[in-house]
Amino acid sequence: MGERVLTDLPAVSLADYAEQARALLPPDVWDYLAGGSASEVTLAANRHALDRVAVLPRVLRGVDTVDLGTRLLGRRYAMPVGVAPMAYQRLVHPDGELGLAAAAGAAGIPYLASTLGSTPIEQVTGVGADVWFQLYWLRDRALVRDLLDRVVAAGCRALVVTVDVPVLGRRPRDLRNAFRLPAEVVAANLPDGRDALAHSGAPGVSAIAAHTAASFAPALRWADLAWLREQVDLPLVVKGLLDPRDATEAVRVGADAVVVSNHGGRQLDGSPASVTMLPEVVAAVGDGCQVLLDSGIRGGTDVLRALALGAAGVLVGRPLLWALAVGGEPAARDALALLAAELTDALTLAGCSDTVAAGELRTLGVG
Ligand code: FNR
Ligand code: LAC
Repeated sequence: MGERVLTDLPAVSLADYAEQARALLPPDVWDYLAGGSASEVTLAANRHALDRVAVLPRVLRGVDTVDLGTRLLGRRYAMPVGVAPMAYQRLVHPDGELGLAAAAGAAGIPYLASTLGSTPIEQVTGVGADVWFQLYWLRDRALVRDLLDRVVAAGCRALVVTVDVPVLGRRPRDLRNAFRLPAEVVAANLPDGRDALAHSGAPGVSAIAAHTAASFAPALRWADLAWLREQVDLPLVVKGLLDPRDATEAVRVGADAVVVSNHGGRQLDGSPASVTMLPEVVAAVGDGCQVLLDSGIRGGTDVLRALALGAAGVLVGRPLLWALAVGGEPAARDALALLAAELTDALTLAGCSDTVAAGELRTLGVG
């Protein structure tokens, strides 16, 4: 038998894209995508904890066709999945944000566009997907205001504020690689004053960490979110909390959804796997807002686990960048179609004809 040529085989799980992407990408870019902070304990915990959630299937419930449709933030989507906001997508493929957003549009799911996108937000909304804009709060509040005006004018459907990056987590892989952006990849939504920082290498320094330290406001409070709530008449999502007390605060300032997340293990190492906090957050917010989950979701059975534990939906991060890296927009479309097929199978096997029924399944292991 000859050596298996991965790129010639269709992906049968999202993990297949990881192997292919790793072979294609420059090692330092792969490390930026794959890596976590410090000892990468939380990165690993995300997977272990999801694997430990057992879902009790129901039988003989006459399930023939399955409806994956879901309401998120009052809008109808084809499945309870969104594309997690991820910075600098042109790092992995020239299709970049436009490719992944178009794939999300084709799949009927929301695309979360990062403040640190490498394509201007106005072009991203142009591909026709439902775009939720992810805000990193800049030190200069006038810049935040400008960005909000652009986001509204561009037709974004929601504002997602990420609250777990007062500074970037210390990521040993990026520090060792002295990771920096190539010249052609820029923070296309920001005025270019500080962009040079993201492109200049120094031993033991992550240029992305230096750029974010110079650009992001580290000392935000809940009152700032209350201010934001008044500025923009869009649904507000708070992304990156784990403590149920923070979820309660988010409801108090008027959030329409929270994302239980540890940023894919890239921020505070030693924080819990996000799925372990999901039941407590769901209980804490009650009917106050929707609860989404991310960090470690790798397939349809993981989405089922999240739904069974009370999430309204999930965000998927790295696997979609791997697919984008492997084959641009077409591969990202394939990856989302694969995820929809996996979720359809998972619901069918669990005896659920829709996502509401999945929320009534019993689980063992967490909660
Ligand atoms: C991210 N994430 C992220 N989050 C955010 O709010 N704004 C951002 O710009 C980024 N950028 C970013 C880049 C890369 C390369 C990765 C891998 C992640 C975090 C992301 O939205 C999400 O929380 C995690 O990626 C989810 O975990 P999984 O699915 O990657 O395990
Ligand atoms: C990251 C930032 C940019 O996780 O959110 O790399």
